[in-house]
This record gives sequence, structure tokens and C-alpha cells, in this order.
Amino acid sequence: MTAASVQFALALPGPPDPELVRIRDLIYQVAGIFHPDNKLRLLLERCGRRMKELKTQTLREYFECLTIRPNRQAEMIALLNEITIGETCFFRNQPQLDALRQIVIPKVMEAKANLPLRCLRIWSAGCSTGEEPYTLSMVMLEEAQGRLKGWTVEIAATDLNERSLAHAENAVYGNYSTRNLTPLYRQKYFTTVGEQLQVQSAVRRSVSFSRLNLSDDAGMASMASLDIIFCCNVLIYFDLASKKRVIQHFYNKLLPHGHLFLGHSESLYGVSDDFRLVHLPGATAYVKSDRAMTRTTGMTGRQGA
Ligand SMILES: C[S@@+](CC[C@H](N)C(=O)[O-])C[C@H]1O[C@@H](n2cnc3c(N)ncnc32)[C@H](O)[C@@H]1O
Repeated sequence: MTAASVQFALALPGPPDPELVRIRDLIYQVAGIFHPDNKLRLLLERCGRRMKELKTQTLREYFECLTIRPNRQAEMIALLNEITIGETCFFRNQPQLDALRQIVIPKVMEAKANLPLRCLRIWSAGCSTGEEPYTLSMVMLEEAQGRLKGWTVEIAATDLNERSLAHAENAVYGNYSTRNLTPLYRQKYFTTVGEQLQVQSAVRRSVSFSRLNLSDDAGMASMASLDIIFCCNVLIYFDLASKKRVIQHFYNKLLPHGHLFLGHSESLYGVSDDFRLVHLPGATAYVKSDRAMTRTTGMTGRQGA
């Protein structure tokens, strides 16, 4: 298929182009992101954008750009930047944040009460353009005036998409992202820059951004000893096998008392028995199941906490 015929093909039903299927399989192998047949049209459109940029004529040639040409790794990153959609906003799920403050943070503090280091580690996995980790940082700053006084909070924020991460580092946002901000948060934690809002340095200080592919087992080794993981609206990209792999990593990275938050339409049903669903007011989270804890540490989750 040529670059010119990509546009034409977008309008046509019929069996998928075998070269497109090879690209689909390659993306799945690299990032765990699976495009079912009904999403191939979207993938074709995204490949078309890259082909135009590279002035590549056919999908076969583009497949070579991704596999055997010298800059193949850079091209894969560029394609992943095109296909990962980072829909997000500040305070996307208020009940989840309330449950974090009222239930989960006190539990984590209790579990760590006897440790010399008063540090809370949170991971925003699939942080997109940064609204989620900055929201968490603001919430933690509010908590620091009360029960978290004297604690250090570290927020690791990771994503696959380099463009999203650059936006996150820049920390300037428009109306769409900031639509859920209350006047209190808006005034306290943002500075107006023209028509946009910039996150203040006090909020940015505890957040560190890095590129991490959740399907890259070696890269995942860099994360450890986490109290809380937010992985919201990310698992939707993955098929069951990829989900299982990522969730196993989360299990290994979380401390015994750790909590995992997913997006409000996501669940681990049929994905993992190592976690147990806990119902919080207006939200849910996952903790390590007693059975899994007994298997991995010889003690139950409740003992581990
Ligand atoms: C819809 S956004 C969710 C943003 C935020 N967590 C929220 O709920 O508002 C999904 C993010 O997952 C990221 N993502 C998809 N596949 C990924 C992978 N294999 N590794 C890391 N991040 C990935 C995308 O780049 C995108 O930024």
C-alpha cells in the first residue's frame, strides 16, 4: 500500500493489508498495545502520518523503517507517540482522591509508623501529560498541612509517549485540562500565563517524570518499594496477556500494605487473583490478596502491614 493510497484505503472495508498486520504485531511485541481488527483503520491513519513525514512510499517500506533501518528505535518511539492517546485532566476522579486521603493514606502511615524514614512513594503509571501526578502532588501538599506533616512524598510519573512527557515537564495547561479545578486549587497552586495556567514549583518539586514502557520488563526493574500505584485508564490499551504481565509487575513493586488504583471502568476481574478488591466510599482500590501474600512472603497482607 502506498502513502497516497492510505487515504483511499481508510474508506474501504475488506481484509487488512498484511503489512499493516505486521506493524500491528510489532507494536504489540514492543509495547503490549493491541489493535483489534476494528482499530486497524486508526492504526493505518497513524502510520500514514509517519509515512508522510518520512516520505515513505509503501507500508512495506515503513515496516522496514521500524525494523531494519538504522534509526528504527527512534521511529518506533515516534510511531508510539502517534498511537497513544493521552486523554486526561486535573482531578479526573474526585471520589478516588477523597478515598485516598481519608482511607488509604492513614492506612499507609500506620503501616510505616515504626520506620525511621517517613516517606511515601506513589507511582502514576501512564501519566500522560502530567495532570494526574500533579493532582496527586497538590492533594499531598494539602495533607502535608495535617496528618502528613514531616513526611516526604515522592511521585514517580511515567509514560510511553515522549511528547506527553515533554508537555508534563513544561506544566502549562489550557481550559480543557483545568476544567475541574476548584478556585482554591487554581489560586493556590497555579500561576496564570496568558490564557493558560502553569503549575507552581511547590507542586512540581515532588514529581519526577520519565519514559517507561509498561511492557518493558527490564525498564520496570527501575521501580520499587511503592506505597500506592495509580494506573488509571491505561490497561484499556492492553489485551489480557499484556495486562497480566503489567499487573504482576505492580504486585512485585508494591509494598505489602500497598494500594493499586485503576480507572473507574477498569477491573482486575479475570486478570489477577493476586489482588483483592476493596470498596472505599465512592471508589475502589486493590490490595494484595492474603493468598498471594502467603505464597510470596509466608505471611498474610494484614500481618505484612
Ligand atoms: C488515557 S491516558 C491516562 C492518563 C491518566 N492516567 C488518567 O487517567 O487521566 C493513557 C496513557 O497510557 C499511556 N500508555 C499506553 N501504553 C503504555 C505503555 N505500554 N507503557 C506506558 N504508558 C503507556 C499512553 O501514552 C497514555 O498517556
